Amino acid sequence: MGFGVSYVLHLLLLFCTIFGCAWSQDGDVMQKLKASIKSSRSLDWSDSDYCKWENVTCSESRVTRIELQSHSLTGSLPKELVQLTALTDFYCSENNLHGDFPNMPNSLQNLYIYKNNFTSMPSDFFDNMSNLLVVSIGDNSFTQWEIPISIKKCLALKTFSANNASFVGEIPEIFGKENFPSLVTLQLSYNYLEGNLPNSLAGTSIETLWVNGQDKSTNRLNGTLSVIEKMTSLKQLWVNVNSFTGPIPDLSNLTQLTDVCFRDNRLTGVVPPTLTSLPSLKVVNLTNNQLQGSPPKFQNGVSVDNDLSGTNSFCTEGAGQPCSPLVNALLSVVEPLGYPYILAQTWKGNDPCGGNTWKGVVCSGGNISIIDFRNLGFSGSVSPSFASLSSVTKLLLSNNNLTGTIPNELANMPALKEIDVSNNSLYGQIPKFRGDVVVNTDGNPDIGHDKPSSPPSPSSGGNDKKKFSVGAIVGVVIGVVCLLGVGVLVFVMCRRRYNKRNGKVQTPNAIVIHPRHSGDGNAVKISVAAAGGSHAGGVGGTSGFSQSSSVQNVEAGNMMISIQVLREVTNNFSEKNILGKGGFGTVYKGELDDGTKIAVKRMQSDMGGDKGLNEFKSEIAVLTKVRHRHLVALLGYCLDDNEKLLVYEYMPQGTLSEHLFDRKDDGVKPLEWKRRLSIALDVARGVEYLHGLAQQIFIHRDLKPSNILLGDDMRAKVSDFGLVRLAPEGQASFETRLAGTFGYLAPEYAVTGRVTTKVDVYSYGVILMEMITGRRAIDNSQPDENIHLVTWFRRMQLNKDSFQKIIDPAMDIDEEGLESFRTIAGLASHCCAREPHQRPDMGHVVNALAPLVEVWKPSEPDAEDMYGIDLDMSLPQALSKWQNMEGQSTTLDVSYSSMIPSCENTQSSIPPRSPGFADSFTSADAR
Ligand SMILES: *[C@@H]1O[C@H](CO)[C@@H](O)[C@H](O)[C@H]1NC(C)=O
Ligand SMILES: *[C@@H]1O[C@H](CO)[C@@H](O)[C@H](O)[C@H]1NC(C)=O
Ligand SMILES: *[C@@H]1O[C@H](CO)[C@@H](O)[C@H](O)[C@H]1NC(C)=O
Ligand SMILES: *[C@@H]1O[C@H](CO)[C@@H](O)[C@H](O)[C@H]1NC(C)=O
Ligand SMILES: *[C@@H]1O[C@H](CO)[C@@H](O)[C@H](O)[C@H]1NC(C)=O
Ligand SMILES: *[C@@H]1O[C@H](CO)[C@@H](O)[C@H](O)[C@H]1NC(C)=O
Repeated sequence: MGFGVSYVLHLLLLFCTIFGCAWSQDGDVMQKLKASIKSSRSLDWSDSDYCKWENVTCSESRVTRIELQSHSLTGSLPKELVQLTALTDFYCSENNLHGDFPNMPNSLQNLYIYKNNFTSMPSDFFDNMSNLLVVSIGDNSFTQWEIPISIKKCLALKTFSANNASFVGEIPEIFGKENFPSLVTLQLSYNYLEGNLPNSLAGTSIETLWVNGQDKSTNRLNGTLSVIEKMTSLKQLWVNVNSFTGPIPDLSNLTQLTDVCFRDNRLTGVVPPTLTSLPSLKVVNLTNNQLQGSPPKFQNGVSVDNDLSGTNSFCTEGAGQPCSPLVNALLSVVEPLGYPYILAQTWKGNDPCGGNTWKGVVCSGGNISIIDFRNLGFSGSVSPSFASLSSVTKLLLSNNNLTGTIPNELANMPALKEIDVSNNSLYGQIPKFRGDVVVNTDGNPDIGHDKPSSPPSPSSGGNDKKKFSVGAIVGVVIGVVCLLGVGVLVFVMCRRRYNKRNGKVQTPNAIVIHPRHSGDGNAVKISVAAAGGSHAGGVGGTSGFSQSSSVQNVEAGNMMISIQVLREVTNNFSEKNILGKGGFGTVYKGELDDGTKIAVKRMQSDMGGDKGLNEFKSEIAVLTKVRHRHLVALLGYCLDDNEKLLVYEYMPQGTLSEHLFDRKDDGVKPLEWKRRLSIALDVARGVEYLHGLAQQIFIHRDLKPSNILLGDDMRAKVSDFGLVRLAPEGQASFETRLAGTFGYLAPEYAVTGRVTTKVDVYSYGVILMEMITGRRAIDNSQPDENIHLVTWFRRMQLNKDSFQKIIDPAMDIDEEGLESFRTIAGLASHCCAREPHQRPDMGHVVNALAPLVEVWKPSEPDAEDMYGIDLDMSLPQALSKWQNMEGQSTTLDVSYSSMIPSCENTQSSIPPRSPGFADSFTSADAR
């Protein structure tokens, strides 16, 4: 009997393995879940079909959502939940579930488990969860753990909320914009965190940051709040109940900040006007710090905590009332020391020589006679404001870590008898003190020299600004020198390489895939739309126009594709399937059963870890934010420690480069002039969109013919977004590490590393020149003076006689064509103007090209909208559209076991690759 049952079960299992049995699989798991939890409220889970259970949602018999929040549940969760591989939403918050929280399937997007009694999460929980958008795990009884580093793989994460989640240790440097381009909410209140706020928070898109209340242990968060200055998206900032020190930073760039809570820290210094006058501010709390100066007066309508004075060290009690000149003088003396806490504690009231004893200040006859800052561990510089303390006879600053010079103003202090600055790190000339002043400068190794022999030790004080600028200048100088060095080296290597292989490097692309959990078990269904042809718009489609969905944050949900599927369709990444190689990886053609082709870009795994990862993330972040008919669309990706793969639609005609320069004798005909014009317009429209129509400014940085792909209708799309940078909001130019391709680099970018949209305009101009002449940007087969296309082109253009000789001999141009030819040649030169401001913007280029192309508008109907934008769908929407169109498209089923992590390491099967250095390069950070 027992034998019989197990035999049948085995058969069933075998059957399921072969044919897939989602129904039975999800059914088993749901029964396990049902058995392990109890609800004291009614929860109707009686139907034999679990898809009809209350608060359970299915799609094609697969469980996609389980919503059990606030159901008075007790019990624990079964390990088998990980097998619900179509699950996107799991909500069980506000119950009394206990035990270890289990692993979840990597299809999961939204996880809400706060307010339970779970005792742990698996240490590898976040390892493969790259579809997560929201994680909310606070208020559980976890045993102490550190913030798991592996959440940095959750590329699409928007919210990470873990208040009262028993985190210990420091906040790791992972919450930067490289890892989390879309992170908006970071909540880490009421944990046991210690150490400083990570510097990587600078420049992030975080709007809500809670790190308040690390008050359950002796260690709290400490250090200064200076990183906040650069968190310009912040709306709500709660840092209360910690041990932060130093002054409130300059908040002038936090133009959306409405709610800020600084109370219960060790903040010192004068409340900056950038806070009191911040227009967006609505709520501010400052109580229980050692803030100094005049009590701040906020604008009408701002709620301030009512016990503002509390334990603060303001000089008066009335908001906005000024401090005495002596107090102001003392405050400016300690400003470059970062307003030391030890002084702020006792510096209360408006009279340093009144009742209280001010640390470091000795009075005599109602006037300050001695400043005694010896042995206080101060860092920072010596303020010239000491000179305004005219009654001081002794200035004692010895045995600190002071840097900078002794200000000349100090020599004018009328009553000064003694100055002791011994045992610091001061340098420079000693001011000419009067003969009767005793001056002690011993123990300052660099005193008397112009510059310190070694860089000053880092300071935590308010002197940061000054040092920073010195550091920055040194950094820039070193950076430029290195850059030039690397540049020359790279240039030499590139030229060698060009000579060797005639510059044939492409990053082709082609797209069209889409994986999805189908109704039958462990199978993944890939629906493949006919590539090219009428679908040249990729998944963009042309229906509707809902701006809101497309330009939002990364919506990478459902985009993860398993390595097994990609391996299957590319013959295990066979050499034979290589479409091309670029600086960041190899592109493989995928061949489906019915012969439909797709393209899979496999990022080079030997590209020094993080850099490759950054290009990968950049590409995903950009492509999920922008959608346009003339930008290649991303359909999916696969991420693992060793594997980074991107899947695009297939562009059957390959790269523009192949059509201009690399024509094989057989087949490919040279492009006619009309075609070139229409390609030029397509590219211009794609780039115009990147530059601003997408609401944010994206800069491509690597435009070139090998990054322009052609469909069967010869319409073009821009590809390869690995180097794209998002311009910081409201900023037209910004510094970045140099990256791009020689021949296409705008001169100012190559020299300064500052990038603007005009950098792309320059590269675009070079491409126009290439299309006109059929010559490469850098053509080593030419005599030396003609190698550089832009230089040669300009020279030829000046000479009316030779002008027509620049036309690509491979094409015939008639009279009519010649007219447009002159216009385009002029436009190309204009785009390559030496000064960025002399170059047109892409909108202008589109306007110049459009009328010329209209003349030869392709005969096939063109559903282009006003800007040629396909803002209509987010990627998940587009993908489900393809699903629905499945009937008209080809489908392929690939079975695989859902139990195998979807991005399994396939190192052993990777064909050996040369450590190639292709036509893209990046140099060390210029700063
Ligand atoms: C659960 O289902 C019940 C009945 O359909 C519904 O009233 C309730 O809102 C659902 N709860 C959640 C959290 O979805
Ligand atoms: C949480 O679980 C622990 C044991 O795991 C138990 O002692 C405690 O009472 C539970 N708390 C609640 C609120 O149920
Ligand atoms: C800040 O906290 C860390 C970790 O608790 C500690 O090692 C360090 O000494 C603290 N720094 C200051 C200045 O208190
Ligand atoms: C604010 O932004 C401007 C412009 O980007 C910049 O020059 C300035 O340094 C920023 N201020 C701070 C305090 O970071
Ligand atoms: C901050 O101040 C506001 C306004 O007085 C008050 O309503 C709020 O409770 C305070 N918050 C904290 C955390 O103290
Ligand atoms: C100066 O700084 C160093 C390290 O930053 C520290 O070890 C030393 O104690 C400091 N000296 C004084 C006098 O505070």
